[in-house]
Amino acid sequence: MDKMLVHGGHRLSGTVRVSGSKNSALPILAATLLTREPCVIHHVPDLSDIHYMLQILSHLGAQVERASGTVRIQADHILTTAPYDIVRKMRASVCVLGPLLGREKEATVSLPGGCVIGDRPIDLHLKGFEALNAAHRVEQGNVKVFAGRLIGGTANLRGKLGPTVLGTDNVMMAACLAEGTTIIEGAAAEPEVVDLANFLNKMGAKIEGAGTERIIIEGVRQLHGAEHAVIPDRIEAGTFLVAAAIAGSEVTLRRCAPEHLGCVLDQLTTAGFHIESAADRITLRSNGTPSPLHITTEPYPGFPTDMQAQMCALLSRANGTSTIAETVFPQRFMHVSELKRMGAEIELEGSTVLIHGVSRLSAAPVMASDLRASAALRLAGLDADGITEVNRVYHIDRGYESIDEKLNALGAQIERVKV
Ligand code: EPZ
Repeated sequence: MDKMLVHGGHRLSGTVRVSGSKNSALPILAATLLTREPCVIHHVPDLSDIHYMLQILSHLGAQVERASGTVRIQADHILTTAPYDIVRKMRASVCVLGPLLGREKEATVSLPGGCVIGDRPIDLHLKGFEALNAAHRVEQGNVKVFAGRLIGGTANLRGKLGPTVLGTDNVMMAACLAEGTTIIEGAAAEPEVVDLANFLNKMGAKIEGAGTERIIIEGVRQLHGAEHAVIPDRIEAGTFLVAAAIAGSEVTLRRCAPEHLGCVLDQLTTAGFHIESAADRITLRSNGTPSPLHITTEPYPGFPTDMQAQMCALLSRANGTSTIAETVFPQRFMHVSELKRMGAEIELEGSTVLIHGVSRLSAAPVMASDLRASAALRLAGLDADGITEVNRVYHIDRGYESIDEKLNALGAQIERVKV
């Protein structure tokens, strides 16, 4: 199990290229199950989560070829049961349910367990499938969804904690091959949902309204192969902006989508950082200590929950007290205790943190618990006094392509050591 040594105090400057979006690539790769014809997907990031998804698709019978960032998939004959030993490693595997149900009228996937960021139910996914005339049952830890005929219907997928991204994806994919029209109310509006809808429409689907809370899908008889380039990863981009804010002088992101980062750019500007953005680039100039912020995480276009941990790291050094209220995953604070080991002064009140800024964090051995917490601890180490040791490095490899190489190319000093 590797660990990461982050040498604090090195300033960052230069240009970094953002990779394709993990959270867009995963459902798009699953959507290739909806056709027997070959699909070609570009800008697929080299991540362990992507590797797991490609393993699942291969296990289901698809031919999978990968050449650097391009993946060619042809799901000619497929099985309908995803393998537990792979699915248990990645909760997003649940997004094969929709395409398998759409194409084969049945699908079996092991129930996603909880994870450190909180419970990960799929009740809203199943509610959407029911609206398509599909039934489900749980047996031996698996969920099986099945239908004699898939018939379009109306479902509201908004839960008590807001819309569901993968639930919207799943129901949208199944509805593409249902008889008649499906309306998803309370749909997730994330850019990754829009990217999936764009890919499905290239395959011959008839989807309107993606990016709004009301998506209309007119079922078709079959879908054909298509080629698509995945959108840039807005969370990777946001993570690098926070790295620049913590340790930068001036950093420019390339091949990113500023329009997907509105809330994050607004907050960093309010914190006092100078930001310039153009078509596919964003430049942040850091002039030291941030002003305190008051943030509430919300579904898109609100402030993303996937940036919450990174902002905790940044605001640990603010010149005042900040608050972050987490409304999407209320327990998503495993990084707080680790930041406190580095000298951060953070109080947790329910699902809100009060962050009292300190002048500088101090290096310490810390433990990563999930993907975004792992990134946050790395960012905190960039400007900490000493060498921060981040354990359980495998978390970050799930969602950030070559993050150490990218940060070191900007001037950081991060080394991975085997233990
Ligand atoms: C997606 O997860 C992302 N993952 C998450 O990113 C992201 O944090 C999340 O959306 C919210 O934006 C991928 O796209 C692969 P949800 P998803 O269904 O779809 C509750 C990362 O770090 N809920 O939108 O699984 C749920 O418990 C990951 O890249 C139900 O109650 O999240 C949560 O509180 C972490 N019932 C809220 O809704 C359901 O059936 C939002 O969950 C489904 C969800």
